[in-house]
Amino acid sequence: MIETPSNSHSWFEWIQLIATICVPVAIGVFTIIQNQSQSEQQRNNLKIAAENRLKDIEIADYNRGKDRWLADDQQKENILVDYQNFLANLLEKHGMTLNGTSTARFVARFRTLIALNQLNSARRSFLIRSLYEAQLISFRTIQTNNTMTEFESVDTPRSIVDLSSANLSGLSLGINEDDNDECPRECIPGVRIDALVLSQTQLKNAFFRKLYFQGALFVKSIMDSVDFRCAYLNGTNDYLTFANSLLIHAKFHKACAQDVSFQSVNLYKAQMHGMVCRHCIFRCAQINHADLHDVFFYREDVNKDKLHDEYENINFTETSLIGATFDHLSLRGTLFIGTNLSRIRIINCVFSRDSVQYAAATFEKSTLINATIENSSFDYVHFIDSNLSGAKIFMSNFTHASMKNIDLTGATLEMCNFSSTNLAGCIMTNANIHLSYFVDSDLTGCQGITDVQLAQAKSIAGAILPNGSKISSI
Ligand SMILES: *[C@@H]1O[C@H](CO)[C@@H](O)[C@H](O)[C@H]1NC(C)=O
Ligand SMILES: *[C@@H]1O[C@H](CO)[C@@H](O)[C@H](O)[C@H]1NC(C)=O
Ligand SMILES: *[C@@H]1O[C@H](CO)[C@@H](O)[C@H](O)[C@H]1NC(C)=O
Ligand SMILES: *[C@@H]1O[C@H](CO)[C@@H](O)[C@H](O)[C@H]1NC(C)=O
Ligand SMILES: *[C@@H]1O[C@H](CO)[C@@H](O)[C@H](O)[C@H]1NC(C)=O
Ligand SMILES: *[C@@H]1O[C@H](CO)[C@@H](O)[C@H](O)[C@H]1NC(C)=O
Ligand SMILES: *[C@@H]1O[C@H](CO)[C@@H](O)[C@H](O)[C@H]1NC(C)=O
Ligand SMILES: *[C@@H]1O[C@H](CO)[C@@H](O)[C@H](O)[C@H]1NC(C)=O
Ligand SMILES: *[C@@H]1O[C@H](CO)[C@@H](O)[C@H](O)[C@H]1NC(C)=O
Ligand SMILES: *[C@@H]1O[C@H](CO)[C@@H](O)[C@H](O)[C@H]1NC(C)=O
Ligand SMILES: *[C@@H]1O[C@H](CO)[C@@H](O)[C@H](O)[C@H]1NC(C)=O
Ligand SMILES: *[C@@H]1O[C@H](CO)[C@@H](O)[C@H](O)[C@H]1NC(C)=O
Repeated sequence: MIETPSNSHSWFEWIQLIATICVPVAIGVFTIIQNQSQSEQQRNNLKIAAENRLKDIEIADYNRGKDRWLADDQQKENILVDYQNFLANLLEKHGMTLNGTSTARFVARFRTLIALNQLNSARRSFLIRSLYEAQLISFRTIQTNNTMTEFESVDTPRSIVDLSSANLSGLSLGINEDDNDECPRECIPGVRIDALVLSQTQLKNAFFRKLYFQGALFVKSIMDSVDFRCAYLNGTNDYLTFANSLLIHAKFHKACAQDVSFQSVNLYKAQMHGMVCRHCIFRCAQINHADLHDVFFYREDVNKDKLHDEYENINFTETSLIGATFDHLSLRGTLFIGTNLSRIRIINCVFSRDSVQYAAATFEKSTLINATIENSSFDYVHFIDSNLSGAKIFMSNFTHASMKNIDLTGATLEMCNFSSTNLAGCIMTNANIHLSYFVDSDLTGCQGITDVQLAQAKSIAGAILPNGSKISSI
């Protein structure tokens, strides 16, 4: 049977048509579906890829950094090794004091400065340590006249290897890990460093904690934030001096010093609490805004005729001296402005003016609450607006002192001499003035003085009383 071609054709065409239409649609639909899920997948993949790439970059960077660091570290190690070899050769050739030729010390100095410049602080410390061990930065191995003025002069003696102008910031001669703030025991010497010369160097943030310095020169150095906590500084029969150095923010917490010079240093905002100082020199030092609570500064001198001027002209402006002890010191010309001296113990000290050289000390707006003052002289001293309430003062002289508006509430003033003293406007409520002299003193406008109190005084001849009436001069 012959089928109609049109029929078969149309059927086939239908199939074709459907297929033609459907396949692209199907493909399209599939593609859309596929694309959708794929884009999800792709995005995930891309994200992972990107993350991986980032990680790779990070790792590469880290590795590069590490390589760089290792290379740098290796380079520094090489610099140090080269330097050590150079030094060994030089010492072999020119002797341990490098006096073979005139150039040896010069060469040593410049090679050392260059090496120091290129090293980090750990290797710098190692380098300094080896120079120290070889006695090349010691004042024992150089010719000097051995006088303090020579050591503190402009041209301070140089060691064999002269380190002046070197940048030794962060130098550590101590045990860095030992961050323990506590001292083992009061004034017990630790690891010993002898006759070290680090004058005219930069020693910012240097670390000398708990070390025992037997003689050392730190003249005209920049020593901001240097750490001498719990250090033991012995300058007896030697030279231990910080003269003219910048010691801003320096830490001397619980340090023990003996025969040490801090002449003309700047100890602005220094932390020196609990420091013990025997026979030290602080003449002309700036110690303002510093913390010196519980310091113990003293002399033990038998020779009373000698003029001790080691504490003159200090600037203690806005400093804390709470609970401090001053024993056998002369503090003429020293400024105590806005200083907190609560509970201070002042024994056998001189604050009076000296007709030749020094002005009297100045206490202004200072707090001396509960202070203990014994056998000290304050003649011509200024105490303007200071607070001495609760103070215990014995056998001390305040003649010609300016004590206007001083607060002496509850104070004990026994066996003292207030002759010709200006006490106008003072507060003396409950003060005990037993056996004290007020000859020719001015008590105008003073508050809280009773007749019973006045009767305790040894003499008020010539004094002007709070109500303005003047006692006859005997
Ligand atoms: C170098 O110093 C040593 C010891 O101080 C001395 O014995 C030697 O003679 C000196 N050498 C020169 C060349 O000055
Ligand atoms: C050391 O003493 C000698 C001789 O007394 C003198 O010529 C020299 O200038 C002194 N040196 C110093 C640095 O004072
Ligand atoms: C000294 O070295 C320290 C760190 O090693 C650095 O921060 C400082 O800038 C250097 N000072 C000078 C003046 O080069
Ligand atoms: C301090 O140094 C002097 C002189 O060198 C020495 O006699 C004394 O024993 C030292 N003090 C301490 C505690 O080491
Ligand atoms: C003392 O220190 C204060 C505070 O830093 C400063 O203003 C004043 O000028 C200083 N006085 C002297 C005489 O150095
Ligand atoms: C001084 O120190 C004492 C004791 O710590 C404190 O009570 C007082 O407020 C301080 N005075 C001033 C003026 O800072
Ligand atoms: C002073 O002493 C009195 C009595 O002992 C005490 O109550 C007061 O807190 C002390 N003040 C200071 C600042 O030490
Ligand atoms: C009081 O001080 C004077 C001189 O400053 C001294 O000679 C005397 O021994 C001291 N007295 C006491 C008991 O410390
Ligand atoms: C106080 O002055 C008298 C006589 O003016 C003197 O004998 C005594 O040593 C002085 N005391 C102090 C501690 O300066
Ligand atoms: C002195 O100090 C005491 C105790 O802190 C206080 O009560 C008194 O008001 C102070 N005096 C003056 C004049 O500020
Ligand atoms: C108190 O000081 C005056 C003035 O310096 C002096 O003339 C007088 O002798 C002194 N009195 C005593 C008992 O020391
Ligand atoms: C001033 O005070 C004193 C002591 O309190 C008293 O003896 C005297 O009479 C007073 N003088 C006058 C003028 O009030």
